[in-house]
Amino acid sequence: MKSYRIDRFGLAALEQSEGSEFEPGPGQVVVGVEAVSLNYRDLLMVRGEYNPRLRLPLVPCSDGAGTILRVGEGVEDAEVGQRVAGCFAQGWLGGEPPAGVHALTLGGPRDGMLAEEVLLESAGVVPLPAHLSPGEAACLPCAGVTAWSALHKGGGLRSGEWVLIQGTGGVSTFALQLAKLAGARIIVTSRSEAKLERARALGADETILIPATPRWGKAARELSEGGVHLVVEVGGAETWGESLSACRTGARVAVIGVLSGREAKIDFAPVLMRQLRLQGVFVGSRADFMALNAAVEAYELRPLVDRTFAFGAAREAFEALERAEHQGKLVIDVRP
Ligand SMILES: NC(=O)c1ccc[n+]([C@@H]2O[C@H](COP(=O)([O-])OP(=O)(O)OC[C@H]3O[C@@H](n4cnc5c(N)ncnc54)[C@H](OP(=O)(O)O)[C@@H]3O)[C@@H](O)[C@H]2O)c1
Repeated sequence: MKSYRIDRFGLAALEQSEGSEFEPGPGQVVVGVEAVSLNYRDLLMVRGEYNPRLRLPLVPCSDGAGTILRVGEGVEDAEVGQRVAGCFAQGWLGGEPPAGVHALTLGGPRDGMLAEEVLLESAGVVPLPAHLSPGEAACLPCAGVTAWSALHKGGGLRSGEWVLIQGTGGVSTFALQLAKLAGARIIVTSRSEAKLERARALGADETILIPATPRWGKAARELSEGGVHLVVEVGGAETWGESLSACRTGARVAVIGVLSGREAKIDFAPVLMRQLRLQGVFVGSRADFMALNAAVEAYELRPLVDRTFAFGAAREAFEALERAEHQGKLVIDVRP
């Protein structure tokens, strides 16, 4: 059984190794992984920037999908041959996250999906929407659930509202697709005109090219006739101020990512004067994943896969993520 297991930080440490197959214990399942999708978090994890004290070795990657190969004693909610994806936080079934949830997440600190086989709890997998390929399904657990939580769990998105979505990466493209299904009006920002063109084809009503529009928050407020109702904030330090400036009174900001840094000076005036609500997002539970899948299935939504790499080219896939030229998701095909 082949896997990638890093024993030191850095992309150079991403090497394949051979290990023995898993035997599932009571309540566990072994999943034959067919595809993995990359998240920005995986890159931070491998570079040692997510948690420099992370215990190694580690099998990276949070997101993967495949087929159940073996089940342990007492497993009644999953069966051999079932197509499933792993849940980002094993053991967070629904409601509030359990204490210590950060220790339960796949791809750090728990071993992740970049392997031919993984051992998971039977309650730590969800069945896949039938219309999705393994590569498409592998995009759901972290990026898809995060976008779902941002819009629907914390964001309370309603039809006709304006949503400002930053960038065109994995979480943001999912947010665009899901917001469209919800009947929202959508503004997408990007540093690339070509990506904005594709975002319009996916349903963006308005787009803003960031380098040409430094005050893009103000531009979004004007386009939405008084401000957006919801912001999908993935930029962090450098985008925070403009995000607040885009908001109308009572708007919500889904605080998701820190691509440009995690520490920023905050002007609280717009927050209190416009009664804004800031909602942190930490992916979501198994129940949130099931809710996302119900929508994906009902509307036959297909995640946007930008490019697929062979298992042997996993390091190239990480390098492509680092260059940020992708739109939507980068996928690794694990099948031989
Ligand atoms: N809180 C959570 O639960 C959660 C879950 C998933 C991800 N995240 C975080 O969300 C962020 C996005 O993750 P992802 O996996 O979707 O990443 P990704 O696929 O790598 O996408 C990142 C995209 O954001 C845009 N971008 C990059 N740097 C930027 C910057 N400095 N300012 C503004 N936009 C920038 C780029 O789009 P353009 O090229 O179009 O400009 C880029 O393609 C990361 O910080 C990640 O850690 C958080």
